[in-house]
Amino acid sequence: LRIAVLFGGRSTEHDVSVLSATNVMRALEPQKYDAIPVFVSREGQWLLSSFEDGTLAKPENGAEVCLVPGGRGRMFAIPADGSAYELPTIDILFPVLHGLHGEDGSVQGLAEVARVPLAGCGILGSATALDKDIAKQLMKAAGVPIARSVTIHEGAQPPFAALETELGLPLFIKPARQGSSVGVRKVHASQEFDGALAEGFRHDRKLLAEEFVRGREIEFSVLEDTAGNLFVSRPGEIVPAESHGFYSYNAKYIDENGAALKIPAELPLEVEAGMRDVAARAFRAVGCDSMARVDFFLTPDMQFLVNEINTIPGFTDISMYSKAMAASGVSYAEVIDRLVAHGLA
Ligand code: DAL
Ligand code: MG
Repeated sequence: LRIAVLFGGRSTEHDVSVLSATNVMRALEPQKYDAIPVFVSREGQWLLSSFEDGTLAKPENGAEVCLVPGGRGRMFAIPADGSAYELPTIDILFPVLHGLHGEDGSVQGLAEVARVPLAGCGILGSATALDKDIAKQLMKAAGVPIARSVTIHEGAQPPFAALETELGLPLFIKPARQGSSVGVRKVHASQEFDGALAEGFRHDRKLLAEEFVRGREIEFSVLEDTAGNLFVSRPGEIVPAESHGFYSYNAKYIDENGAALKIPAELPLEVEAGMRDVAARAFRAVGCDSMARVDFFLTPDMQFLVNEINTIPGFTDISMYSKAMAASGVSYAEVIDRLVAHGLA
């Protein structure tokens, strides 16, 4: 089975995607899969990559890759001299891209236009889940517990006092459409507000001000089978180091000791059961299919709420998705087989 793995990408999570895709490539069993890695540059160019000694090449120039509309997996490589040649036809496209232009329905739409099967969540769920404002509206309508928030559009900023009254302090300011906590600021007092807005608006024209929920971060991996049944993993817990204050980009990817994972998280069984049920409901509410990781906060009195849904969750060494699946009896290789089977069904 020939599988094209897209990685890199135009979003701020470019580097995270490279880490994720490296692990995905390592987990693709060579006797089953013939993988063609395609590097998406920060400018959005698709470039033919290679995978050698466990490392993905990030070519700076080289052959561009073109997926033919309606071509059912036909791809061409176009070197700089223009001498295009056809690549082996792919059976499935696996975008391992995080954030905008990859996890947001755009590449999923491209697969649809190319008439090539897609591994992972489709257009609708990708687009809604990536927009935290829209995702929260859908979850709220479905009765899924979420944190209180106020949506802030550029040019229509509410006064800080109104947010303080509505959400309490501290509060978070976050871009609506970013991942890995990029552009997220915790605001403790009014003098930090303008800086947080400026930082947020550097990344998006729509922000969320969100209440701070004092609680544990618990995540579940959700994987749909070909019959449409949802498998929800055991819970995993993120334990961020005290020094980081919250699970920021630095705590995630820069500081090796920024956070620890605890899988399975220690929870009363009935709480775990309730959370798994809500994870499945949240997945459905935002229109997901195939795969997503559903992230929760759990307060000391065992109230839980959904923080967000990631339709292409991280597959880095410190990422939860595959680890929580493994702790639930589904190996990394099996996760990939199931994602592929779902895409081909
Ligand atoms: N957005 C990152 C990759 C994650 O949720 O794991
Ligand atoms: Mg995220």
